[in-house]
Amino acid sequence: MSHSPYGTSDFTSRQFRTAMGQFCTGVTVISTINGDGAPVGFACQSFAALSLDPPLVLFCPMKTSRSWKVIEETGKFVVNVLANRQQEVSATFGAPGDDKFASITWDQSPAGLPVIRHCLTWVECDVERVEDGGDHHIVIGRARTLGEVLQDKPLLFYRGGYLSTEHPRVHPADAELEEFLTWNGTDTWL
Ligand SMILES: Cc1cc2nc3c(=O)[nH]c(=O)nc-3n(C[C@H](O)[C@H](O)[C@H](O)COP(=O)(O)O)c2cc1C
Repeated sequence: MSHSPYGTSDFTSRQFRTAMGQFCTGVTVISTINGDGAPVGFACQSFAALSLDPPLVLFCPMKTSRSWKVIEETGKFVVNVLANRQQEVSATFGAPGDDKFASITWDQSPAGLPVIRHCLTWVECDVERVEDGGDHHIVIGRARTLGEVLQDKPLLFYRGGYLSTEHPRVHPADAELEEFLTWNGTDTWL
């Protein structure tokens, strides 16, 4: 046993989850269409913007994810960034289900993939690379099409529960913002 005032290296899986749960994230639904033309998807917090040039994103599906099996076949997916009012959507896609889209209003992306109505924005991607990540895969995707941006509050996930920000507009971080991959800046293309 190695205990120190600064932490422990003798931790359980539960303790690891608790520690990781201190990191607040947004919530996405990663979606695609299967060979029968049916939409599939799963709730995913392990999403990140990865690279500006080329435009890359990443997400990490469990190796047992049924949606991942379909994405692996199609080689395409949409990242739907959820708004705060979409907690039910997150719950639906965060649990196993045969027809998760049954209660969802959705449209088609240019490649015919499901885009969930009222999400903050969406990005259609091609799978570029898949790396091993323990009991997860690390999937790197190249952004092909960007959806429009909705002015609404994001859905946040923190300590295993949902959170909302008070205000959708936040103070800019005091840093070299031009270098930031997720800087909003003065980009008014939408
Ligand atoms: C808020 C939230 C975030 C989640 N994040 C992930 C994630 O990053 N990776 C993952 O594999 N599963 C994640 N899950 C769990 C999956 O959504 C869940 O296991 C789902 O049933 C998988 O569905 P599928 O087997 O149809 O793909 C998350 C669930 C919730 C509710």
